[in-house]
Amino acid sequence: MTLEIIDTDVLIVGAGGAGCRAAIAASELNQDVLIITKDILGKAHTVMAEGGYNAALANLDPDDTWEIHVRDTLNAGAFLNDQELVETLAKEAPDRVYDLENFGGIFSRTPDGLIMQRPFGHQTYRRTCYAGDRTGHELLGTLTDELRRREITIIDEVYATSLLRDNNHVAGVTIIDIKTGNFKVVRASSVVMAAGGAGRIYETTTNAQADVGSGYSIAYRAGIELIDMEQFQFHPTGVAVPPSARGRLVTEGVRGEGGILLNKNGERFMKKYNPKSMELSGRDEVARSIATEIREGRGTENGAVYLDISFIPSKIIEERLPTMLEDFLDIGLDIRNEPMEVTPTAHHMMGGIKINKNAETNLKGLYAAGEVVGGVHGGNRLGGNALADTQVFGQIAGNSASIHAKSVSPPKLDRKIIDQEYSRVIAPLDRAEGLDTPKEKSQLQKCMWDKAGIFRIEKDLKDALQFIEKQRERVIAQLMVKNKATRYNTEWVSSLELYDMLDVCEMLVRSAIMRKESRGAHYRTDYPTADHKQWLANIIIKNQNQQMILEKRPVIITKWKPPWISNSI
Ligand code: FUM
Repeated sequence: MTLEIIDTDVLIVGAGGAGCRAAIAASELNQDVLIITKDILGKAHTVMAEGGYNAALANLDPDDTWEIHVRDTLNAGAFLNDQELVETLAKEAPDRVYDLENFGGIFSRTPDGLIMQRPFGHQTYRRTCYAGDRTGHELLGTLTDELRRREITIIDEVYATSLLRDNNHVAGVTIIDIKTGNFKVVRASSVVMAAGGAGRIYETTTNAQADVGSGYSIAYRAGIELIDMEQFQFHPTGVAVPPSARGRLVTEGVRGEGGILLNKNGERFMKKYNPKSMELSGRDEVARSIATEIREGRGTENGAVYLDISFIPSKIIEERLPTMLEDFLDIGLDIRNEPMEVTPTAHHMMGGIKINKNAETNLKGLYAAGEVVGGVHGGNRLGGNALADTQVFGQIAGNSASIHAKSVSPPKLDRKIIDQEYSRVIAPLDRAEGLDTPKEKSQLQKCMWDKAGIFRIEKDLKDALQFIEKQRERVIAQLMVKNKATRYNTEWVSSLELYDMLDVCEMLVRSAIMRKESRGAHYRTDYPTADHKQWLANIIIKNQNQQMILEKRPVIITKWKPPWISNSI
């Protein structure tokens, strides 16, 4: 096979908020920067982020500070967070939101012309900056315009299959160009992994089709450390009906603007679970409360509860929640007059690639940013911290990657490893008969939803692990792509995604079995409380000689002590 090699100094894998911000930062040091994306530029999952971006600007509540933002983030995350990363996030989020303004981003405004901020769950002050309820859309549009302005090279519709190493250094990635079906190599001195999340491992999710978790799998296979993969956030409010829209995000902004949750008997049930914070309790708590109402028979016939904002003046709904209004009108419901039916939905992987505050991983030259990173959000992410995370760590990763690329000579490629990778990816296309990808994928998604979802128990988790192990054996030996075309063969890409999903699911389930307590979004009905003595600890996963190794490491407490150790925070 003749192999096409594309050379660049800095390669960014993924063109969502983090990838685009990394590319902008990397371009500032005059390095060659290339972004590759599975989608078309501008279509990444970031566009679906609705409610906002947390930054302690104190525009509405003058007492807000970055320190209070840190404390809120740690309290929400059940102190599983990497405290150094949280400090970085809270300190730098304000500057990164001003960068967006400087790039041309338009935010909603206070009457004095400052960036508007709304209340989001589990936060002391109104801190969530927003552009109506299309904040992610505004953010990504702003960044992609800036990429074009800087003439940064983008190759879209490219699927990254694996990371290449030159001994202890990153060497690039192998890719399939979806447009032609050609297998190629991008050689790079620095790589920023910004490939997004993994919501699609579950049956019901807010996530885009692309979010199958390839970034985690690629990193895992290359021997990169990952952290707390059991911590997956379920957003309390996804669309419940029609089935074709089930899981789609209903922004926390609805509750931030005053929306209330009711069960089928018209009871405002959050009074029972958290009378102080009510609908703006932590996402983990609200999602569990809704799921409990449904499990105990107080849900609607569509497996949902009601979210009502119809008592708020229509003008506010029209101004602050225009996308919600339009989306529900499209499905025949006017939220100015009627309640929505909502149900929990898989939303955000809080585990992921382990980085330090310079966005470095344990492989030289490899950086990571955005949802693919773990540790920032601990056991439960604050709504509005994800967009801030993409900008803060995107900027840091791009900058670190660029500095690094300047200091090293181009890496060497190992042709034998590249040929092995080609054999792996071509296998399902070469097979004449075998298993069908969509069927296998949906079985896996259902298994994860039923056995490793909001409520978890040892037996279910072990069943899930057994399912994953058996499915892995079967798909490696038998997965087959019917469509033998190479150009635009999405069935082929989809089959390779299934291998990636299996890695992510196995990491999640093995960690969930290991964590014998409930903390954050990880809720074990057989261990329903937090065990601070044994489990104020992270679970680190690494691939060693094709074995998935899990290691428990105590959380490093810097100056931010958990309330059960001291009340000083
Ligand atoms: O509810 C929302 O608008 C989602 C925001 C987030 O996950 O940060």
